[in-house]
Amino acid sequence: MRYSLLPLLGLASVPALGGCPFAHTANMDVDDMVKAHARMSRGLVASKSSPSTVPTSSTTPTVGKKGVFMMNRIAPGTSELYIANTDGSNERPLLSDPVFEYHASFSPDGEWITFTSERNGDGNSDIYRVRTNGSDLQELVATPAVEDSVVISPNGRLAAYVSTANNMKANIWVLDLQTGAQWNLTNTPSTAANSSLVESYLRPAWSPDGEWIAFSSDRNTQWDGHGEPTFLGRTGWETTQELSLYAIRPNGSDFRQIISKPYYSLGSPKWSADGKRIVYYEMTREDTYNAHRPETITTANSTIMSVDFATGTDVRVEVAGSGVKQFPQYLDRNGTIAYTLKGGTSEGFYTTAGLYVNTTSATLRSPAWSPDGKQVVYEKTTWSIRAGYKKLYSWDSDWDYRFTDVFPQISHQERIAITQKQLGNSSIVTLNTTGADLQLVYDPSTADFVSDNETTGLSAYQPSWSPCGEWLVFGV
Ligand SMILES: *[C@@H]1O[C@H](CO)[C@@H](O)[C@H](O)[C@H]1NC(C)=O
Ligand SMILES: *[C@@H]1O[C@H](CO)[C@@H](O)[C@H](O)[C@H]1NC(C)=O
Ligand SMILES: *[C@@H]1O[C@H](CO)[C@@H](O)[C@H](O)[C@H]1NC(C)=O
Ligand SMILES: *[C@@H]1O[C@H](CO)[C@@H](O)[C@H](O)[C@H]1NC(C)=O
Ligand SMILES: *[C@@H]1O[C@H](CO)[C@@H](O)[C@H](O)[C@H]1NC(C)=O
Ligand SMILES: *[C@@H]1O[C@H](CO)[C@@H](O)[C@H](O)[C@H]1NC(C)=O
Ligand SMILES: *[C@@H]1O[C@H](CO)[C@@H](O)[C@H](O)[C@H]1NC(C)=O
Ligand SMILES: *[C@@H]1O[C@H](CO)[C@@H](O)[C@H](O)[C@H]1NC(C)=O
Ligand SMILES: *[C@@H]1O[C@H](CO)[C@@H](O)[C@H](O)[C@H]1NC(C)=O
Ligand SMILES: *[C@@H]1O[C@H](CO)[C@@H](O)[C@H](O)[C@H]1NC(C)=O
Repeated sequence: MRYSLLPLLGLASVPALGGCPFAHTANMDVDDMVKAHARMSRGLVASKSSPSTVPTSSTTPTVGKKGVFMMNRIAPGTSELYIANTDGSNERPLLSDPVFEYHASFSPDGEWITFTSERNGDGNSDIYRVRTNGSDLQELVATPAVEDSVVISPNGRLAAYVSTANNMKANIWVLDLQTGAQWNLTNTPSTAANSSLVESYLRPAWSPDGEWIAFSSDRNTQWDGHGEPTFLGRTGWETTQELSLYAIRPNGSDFRQIISKPYYSLGSPKWSADGKRIVYYEMTREDTYNAHRPETITTANSTIMSVDFATGTDVRVEVAGSGVKQFPQYLDRNGTIAYTLKGGTSEGFYTTAGLYVNTTSATLRSPAWSPDGKQVVYEKTTWSIRAGYKKLYSWDSDWDYRFTDVFPQISHQERIAITQKQLGNSSIVTLNTTGADLQLVYDPSTADFVSDNETTGLSAYQPSWSPCGEWLVFGV
């Protein structure tokens, strides 16, 4: 998935260590100090039997809450849906009350647009539908799990979507729009995969006759990083993804693989109008990392491919050449394919009939075209970052959830240290437990504390408090 939510730190009423700078003077030996520190960095309330417990002053979570749970989120700060003509004209916002929406698509009858929204709380994805003129907004599935990638069936009665409900893994689910019944198609006895390997199921797509749902999955593949192989694994820790294409019936029968290519990612399947072919993108596993990063996106490639659904053969290259091409979709009965190219000065929406809509002036993502090929819906994102301490969705009603920048750690004296990767310039700052009283500790752009100034301009990482709260150690 594209967003990472990293639980990092719980701020509870932790005991201050009396008698700093030396814990011994507080009747606490080094082992106790290490244990207390370990408890704190996992966000747990320190044991009441701790020998150092003394009343503390400051932390005042909302009444009825145990404390504040601070989370980082490396993702765009805003995401808003737009609808436009396929040639780029007449662009307008889809919703009158946008919150944070993405992954929209048209229903096959052209009456609805389904999408993902976080209107129940920042960080919690749920699924909705709305008329193409923005009226009649309806919630489809909203749980504390991730719901995403919803698509309506050709007869308008069912919705297929991705949900992490029940086992915290992305599975394909179906919702009956009339009865409200919901059932999972994957994670069933007939689709069982090797549970010690990677297993997610993504981007469902209905066949035109409603008999099949195609999707992509990394099931039965190994976790791996990126970059050069070394004796300890690869040089880059960020995981890459190896996807294959699969199909299943909406009642969970007849699960099968459509096509697979070792060390490649085959994603975003869509059906031809006659239901005979599947169009998708193909990229190397390594490029699934490069396609995410601004400094490598223009060196990464993908190819738009198609395959005969019934046999998994007759594989055709539809769009070759350089650049990351995504979200392919058959636009008409003649087999014209629309897609987006991401990165660089050629970014935009393309068709194989020669149309190009230059979208480089903004960040437009995940386009989906209407069944008649005349309109397109997509999200526009920005990296204007959430304010520090912004309220997030609460997955545990005992705790307040708040946004923070990376590597937060609280001192025994209840001061928070973070690295301002998104909110600043990779500097280290400290704050009090209400997110206020920010103080700059280390600014890499001016730092010169090593004699030859070799640290100037280097990013700072992961500050950690000394027990007495008078020192911070960190990397650059
Ligand atoms: C945090 O800092 C703000 C601004 O200086 C101050 O008003 C507030 O009382 C402080 N809160 C705590 C818990 O220290
Ligand atoms: C929006 O479209 C729906 C049907 O698709 C229609 O009933 C409604 O009147 C339209 N609303 C506006 C404000 O045009
Ligand atoms: C999916 O459905 C099966 C029954 O077919 C059930 O045993 C399993 O728990 C379900 N998985 C999830 C994640 O709900
Ligand atoms: C599941 O994957 C693990 C790790 O590769 C492997 O050791 C194990 O044999 C696999 N189990 C089955 C049933 O294939
Ligand atoms: C599922 O649907 C298919 C095709 O509609 C049908 O042949 C099959 O019997 C159904 N399976 C079950 C378990 O109902
Ligand atoms: C991308 O494609 C272009 C043109 O086909 C080719 O020159 C280039 O080597 C490819 N780059 C990668 C990373 O595969
Ligand atoms: C499909 O191709 C035919 C013949 O080239 C052309 O007349 C027609 O306009 C095309 N239809 C669409 C929807 O592009
Ligand atoms: C798209 O527009 C930008 C800004 O006007 C321009 O620099 C770029 O060359 C255009 N790209 C193409 C492929 O025309
Ligand atoms: C870096 O960020 C800190 C904290 O936000 C700020 O005080 C400082 O002026 C910034 N330095 C530069 C060079 O912009
Ligand atoms: C290091 O930086 C300081 C302040 O920017 C400057 O005065 C000093 O000359 C620099 N030292 C070296 C060895 O470059």
